[in-house]
Amino acid sequence: MRTQVVIVGAGPSGLLLGQLLHKAGVDAVILERQSPDYVLGRIRAGVLEQVTLDVLAQAGVDQRMNKEGLVHTGFDLLFKGERHRIDLSGLTGGQKVMVYGQTEVTRDLMDARQAAGLTTIYEADDVQIHDFDSDHPSVSYSKNGKTQTISCDFIAGCDGFHGVCRASVPRKSIQEFEKVYPFGWLGVLSDTPPVHEELIYANSPRGFALCSQRSLTRSRYYLQVPLTDKVEQWSDDAFWGELRNRLDPEARENLVTGTSIEKSIAPLRSFVTEPMRFGTLFLAGDAAHIVPPTGAKGLNLAATDVKYLSDALIEACVEKSHAGIDHYSTRCLARIWRAERFSWWFTSLMHRFPDQGEIGQKFQEAELDYLIHSEAGSRTVAENYVGLPLNFGE
Ligand code: FAD
Ligand code: DHB
Repeated sequence: MRTQVVIVGAGPSGLLLGQLLHKAGVDAVILERQSPDYVLGRIRAGVLEQVTLDVLAQAGVDQRMNKEGLVHTGFDLLFKGERHRIDLSGLTGGQKVMVYGQTEVTRDLMDARQAAGLTTIYEADDVQIHDFDSDHPSVSYSKNGKTQTISCDFIAGCDGFHGVCRASVPRKSIQEFEKVYPFGWLGVLSDTPPVHEELIYANSPRGFALCSQRSLTRSRYYLQVPLTDKVEQWSDDAFWGELRNRLDPEARENLVTGTSIEKSIAPLRSFVTEPMRFGTLFLAGDAAHIVPPTGAKGLNLAATDVKYLSDALIEACVEKSHAGIDHYSTRCLARIWRAERFSWWFTSLMHRFPDQGEIGQKFQEAELDYLIHSEAGSRTVAENYVGLPLNFGE
């Protein structure tokens, strides 16, 4: 088999890239290790920036999102037992974010791909990438016991943090920067109305908590937990009890609890790969970088990588110009490091660290107090949260 681009991974990055290439008349095949149901079962991101909404509109998958997504113009910071609103729109000249789950974005992209009759090979085992240091790369995989090879012009590694693409690059050609945090996030999804109409990010001496949502009837909550905790140790009652302990009296009063429909623990990590291009192989999304989830940058960064990559591959395949692919890595990394910095900073401000002591808690509270009372401070939070413009720094 032959195609122009083989995309490894059918998460949001791979599916979005496939859709943007298809719109421009570039052929691509997607190889995915898991089944469609497995991919849809992973509960992850929930907050989309305007630049992500624009890319999804360009891909033609914004109809349901515009109908069902919830527009948010602010969020609350909770510390020392009191909540303070960050007015995102007021501080950024009217910008907003949208609450629309990654599962729904993925579903919309899958439906669009199916409707266009495009090839996605699910449950592809033993995916291997070959000859990406040349202009005739190929990708092999096995399915139902048979090995197949697809030759192509370019390979897009959209296969997440544990994927095969980054791992196939010779160690001497790649530099990795990493920080692992000494705690995880325990997440619960429940069919209960959200505790508040906007999100609440809570700094408490007992640890961080986040009250998020997926719709007016579905809530998503997170608690900072030790890395040694196992999800089986956390009954629903224990989760709700601990969440209540980290909230302010009004939120505690308003919290509606119910049976969890998903419960999982995610580790927190900052990670960046440099560069993101190796000959005819390009990494995008979680395959190239991870942010700790505080501030919701992961999926949004993946969407901008894919925007830059699709522009570059279209230029290369249609106009036969290599200018875009030559700049891909540098363009992405400038934006990535800005979001990495913000996510690391917001994580450091909001979580309880094992060695911070009472004085560390006081420092965090004093910084939060400064941020909410200084317009410059609040604006710094707001402009990073809604997402810096694509041309920032140019
Ligand atoms: P993935 O979603 O990891 O997709 C990669 C795909 O590649 C997977 O389907 C995988 O099965 C497949 N694959 C892997 N290896 C192979 C192989 N060898 N062969 C074939 N296929 C392979 N981001 C935000 O922007 N906002 C948020 O609010 C937010 N909240 C989050 C909350 C949590 C708890 C977590 C864990 C993450 C959150 N994120 C958030 C981050 C966001 O979910 C990720 O950045 C996003 O999933 C990245 O998409 P991706 O397609 O690059 O990678
Ligand atoms: C969600 C996750 C985040 O990391 C965040 O900052 C906001 C919302 C969520 O899953 O809803």
